[in-house]
Order: sequence, then structure tokens, then C-alpha cells
Amino acid sequence: MRNKIIVIGSLNYDIILKMPRWPKQGETLTAKEAAFAAGGKGANQAVQAAKLGIPVYMAGCVGNDAMGEFLLNTAREYGVRTEHIRQVKGSSGMSVVNAMEDGEVFACIVRGANYEITKEDIDRIAPLWEESGLLILQMEIPQEVNCYAIDQAKEHGCQVLMNAAPAAPLAEEYIKKCDYFVVNEVEAGYYAGKTIDTMGKASTEAQEMSKRYGNTVIITMGKDGAVVSGEGGTWQIPSQEVQAVETTGAGDSFIGGVGYALLNGMDIYAACRFATKCSAVTVCRMGAQPSMPTLDEVMEKKQ
Ligand code: RIB
Repeated sequence: MRNKIIVIGSLNYDIILKMPRWPKQGETLTAKEAAFAAGGKGANQAVQAAKLGIPVYMAGCVGNDAMGEFLLNTAREYGVRTEHIRQVKGSSGMSVVNAMEDGEVFACIVRGANYEITKEDIDRIAPLWEESGLLILQMEIPQEVNCYAIDQAKEHGCQVLMNAAPAAPLAEEYIKKCDYFVVNEVEAGYYAGKTIDTMGKASTEAQEMSKRYGNTVIITMGKDGAVVSGEGGTWQIPSQEVQAVETTGAGDSFIGGVGYALLNGMDIYAACRFATKCSAVTVCRMGAQPSMPTLDEVMEKKQ
């Protein structure tokens, strides 16, 4: 029974600064609030799916510093199976997130231990492939490791969801091997070579990308919602109206929600509708992983 999700990716220590605005050159600006939380796109997506109640195994690397211990313990406490996360010499991955009043987020990451993951780490998870229905990947680890993992998953009949974030060159041959290709509006612009700033443009582009890659393409558009284009047509999925507090991890919450829903038998369109409810809860609290909802919290959301 393929009832597990494998997430291969990053774990970062997030420093989130709530800023009144972006500082001017030479200016020292006081943040309104600071929060420290476990993050990293890989860990966030794993935590969201685990919080919803599905078995999630994560592979990745953390440093042998205090942050590494914290990242491992946090993922474990949220229910992620962490035995394939390797602790390496050096510093853990890190992110500094400047969150503006209007909900805009400007983030900078430090790769740290995330770039220590190797193909041998992927070989070590081999026994999991036959029991797993979905592999979730992002772009915060070396590309050759992602490509190797895609090949392994496909060889063992496991579907692949690639969240191409942050956008970076990725061989089209490998995009085509993925079953689901998920990007936000900025990343979609990178891969399409044009600006995607409306739901209309996202619909057109998702359709074109889906035809070009021969898979299902999802473009998330922040508070406007998401567009899904695949075999069942192209659909706009509106987001839920909420009073956002801080949006770090909203996209990861969406991906974790999609993973959970797909493994529970929903088609990708229903899965995206479910996932928008997850991210609607996530943006109402500070930090990525602490904000992500359990299944009960998602079910409390009407609509
Ligand atoms: O997607 C949000 C995440 O991106 C943050 O948690 C940060 O660590 C960066 O990886």
C-alpha cells in the first residue's frame, strides 16, 4: 500500500522580522517583532503533511550546531520521520525573512548543511519507495540529487511533485518526468520568461506549460488563489479570504496539503481546493511550521 510521502529537501532556521517597511540605504530600521522558527521548504512541506496525519519520511541534512538539533527535534515533534535526516559537520541552513506590513515577504537563505545531501542519502531511503505514493521535492538542495531522486522514484512507480522554488535552471527532461510541477507567480515568470501577475495570465501559462511538459502544472498566486492545468482542464481555485498576519510557509502549507489530499484519493483539483484551506490557516499566525494546521483545524474552515 502506497500510503507514505517522502520529502527530500531543506531544513532552515528561520529568523522572521516583521518590518514596518524596507530600510533605506544606510538606515538602521527597528523591526516591530521578531520570531524564530523551524523552516526550510522541505521541512515545512513535510511538517504540513505530517500534521494532517499522513506518514511522512524526510531526507536532508542539518548541521552539528544547536540549530540542527532544534530543526530535527521540531520536525520529529510534528510527526515527521527523521531517521533519514543526516547531521553533518558545520552550520545548518538558515533564512532571514523580512515580512512587510502589507503581507509581502523578502527572504534570503543560507544553504549551510542543505547542500551536503548526496546520492548515497537517496540510496539509503530505497526501502521506502515501494510503500510511498508521492515524492515531494524543492530546489534548496543540489540539483543532481533532485534529478537522481526523480529517477529513483519513477523507477519504483512513485509519483513526483516538484515545487520548483526557489526558481533555478532545471533540465526540461526532468521537469517532464515529474507528475506535478508547482510554482508561484515569480517562479512561473522565471520558467515562462514572462511576467505572470494576474490569474488570467497564470491560466494561460499553466496551460502552455502543462502542454509543453506533459504533466499537471499548478501556479500559486498568493492571496488570489491558484491555477491548475492538467488532463482535467484548466481551473482557477480562489483562495480563502482571511486577515493575514505573516505569510512565510504559505506555499509550503499548500504543497503539504496537496500531498495529503492526493494520497487520500482526491484528484488534483480537489486536492488544490483542500490545500488553499491549509494555507489560509497558515497565514493567520507567525512562522511557518508552528502556523500550519492539523486536519481538525482545516475541517473547521467552511467553504
Ligand atoms: O517557503 C518558506 C521557507 O523558505 C522558509 O521557511 C525559509 O526557510 C525558506 O526556505
